[in-house]
Amino acid sequence: MTNPPEEFLLAYQDSCAGLTLLLIHGFPLNSNLWEPQMEDLRDVARVVAPDLRGHGLSAPGDEPYSVRLMAEDCMQLLEAVGAQDPVVVCGHSMGGYIALEFFRQYPEWVDALILVSTRATADSDEARQKRDETAQRAKDEGVPLVAREMLPSMLAPNNHEHTPELLEFVRDMMESTSLKGMVGALQAMKERPDSMPTLPEIDVPVLIIHGEDDQLIPVKDAEAMRDALPTAELVLIPGAGHLPNLEQPVSFNEVVWDFLESLSEEEEG
Ligand code: MLT
Repeated sequence: MTNPPEEFLLAYQDSCAGLTLLLIHGFPLNSNLWEPQMEDLRDVARVVAPDLRGHGLSAPGDEPYSVRLMAEDCMQLLEAVGAQDPVVVCGHSMGGYIALEFFRQYPEWVDALILVSTRATADSDEARQKRDETAQRAKDEGVPLVAREMLPSMLAPNNHEHTPELLEFVRDMMESTSLKGMVGALQAMKERPDSMPTLPEIDVPVLIIHGEDDQLIPVKDAEAMRDALPTAELVLIPGAGHLPNLEQPVSFNEVVWDFLESLSEEEEG
């Protein structure tokens, strides 16, 4: 039990008094993505996982979406939950784009970064055009259709047959995204800046995690980030596609656990 701060009436229980771990999900998912991490990492960190605007239970809002706006939302959430110290920011895919923007906007709030199944480059012209086509299809034919089309590329091919429940879990998350959230996130990703020039400026520990069989973002994009980041470690997870934290939660959590412990040790010593 934590004693109440002077200006606050209520005492409260928190999973851990140590580091705060902010988990930012990818597209078009929600905080349920992090179910195995909420379970297993709460003994080593306070785990905070938002539903980004328009995703999961969060309202879509009225402003045009950008990675900057989504990073601002995350900062407001940290203030709302009373975070006092810099946090470990972990972003999956689109969440990684937001994590890098968060670092640009609030470097003093970043204790370390974990970049999962993501890349630092901006969209190519071809990718931008595809974002527009996907947004149009979502408007014309609905979110579930786009979700169903995208679903097969989310998991490593082997995991499709072996884990039908997992596939269903991911499909439910995707289908629950609001139309405004899906279209807004596509716009934000399309317009996101190139983060490659940011990488050499990152002066905090960075852990990069990537599924060996990622069909959406190739491993070479993770290697390019590692090469541009002097302090980064890259861990490839075998038997995992775009969602290594769900496909191989034990290996994923072990890697993150060790990283968080090394941060705590550094801070104590
Ligand atoms: C994601 O998983 O967040 C997206 O697929 C990333 C992207 O489309 O660039």
